[in-house]
Amino acid sequence: MVRFDKNKIKSLEKIYRLNLINSCTGYKSANLLGSIDSEGNTNLAIFSSITHLGSDPAMIGFVLRPRTVPRNTYNNIFNTKYFTVNHVKAEDIKDAHHTSAKYPKEISEFEKTKFEPEYLDGFKAPFVKNSKIKFGCKYLNEYNIKENNTILVVASIECLYVGKDFLEDDGWIRLDKAETVTINGLDGYAKTKLIDRFEYARPKK
Ligand SMILES: Cc1cc2nc3c(=O)[nH]c(=O)nc-3n(C[C@H](O)[C@H](O)[C@H](O)COP(=O)(O)O)c2cc1C
Repeated sequence: MVRFDKNKIKSLEKIYRLNLINSCTGYKSANLLGSIDSEGNTNLAIFSSITHLGSDPAMIGFVLRPRTVPRNTYNNIFNTKYFTVNHVKAEDIKDAHHTSAKYPKEISEFEKTKFEPEYLDGFKAPFVKNSKIKFGCKYLNEYNIKENNTILVVASIECLYVGKDFLEDDGWIRLDKAETVTINGLDGYAKTKLIDRFEYARPKK
């Protein structure tokens, strides 16, 4: 095993440390966040920190990097309160990754990639048309993480769309069948294969 202690981590070359620390917590979700500003400029960006916060009420959170540079996704969400979360399929990873490029707010990543915006059932923010699993969210709150100037954004799930073929009778979504990819580190995208599902775990007698 290669051991990295705290001092060693601190002294690592920047990109090496970035790769190492971004990979060590395991696979992360791959989602495209769709948003729009009050002038109608759309925005799409890849995020790996979307996480489940609770199911009743249905809530998610994500971590936003420090606002030392313009953050279009955050500004749109803060101003309009709405955004969408769209799963990424294996065939779309190149364009999905490209949405992390820093375009000014007047230039939409929907124009620079193959993704098409889609407005569903009056929801204000754009969805990704070909995404098989997607949901619309409303900003609820944010928490500053003062230790590193990141922000935890908390949002409610307002509407959810799941392709029929991936929705099981008990509500479970079969992500591997939908070809939803997962993120390894900051630039690696992986396919998944389901191994098994289990009953609710109870202590052994
Ligand atoms: C794989 C990957 C995952 C990312 N995850 C996040 C994230 O969780 N939070 C974040 O603030 N930025 C994340 N980014 C960076 C954003 O995609 C990038 O800052 C993007 O330019 C934001 O666009 P915007 O300014 O239009 O909102 C990630 C980038 C990549 C490549």
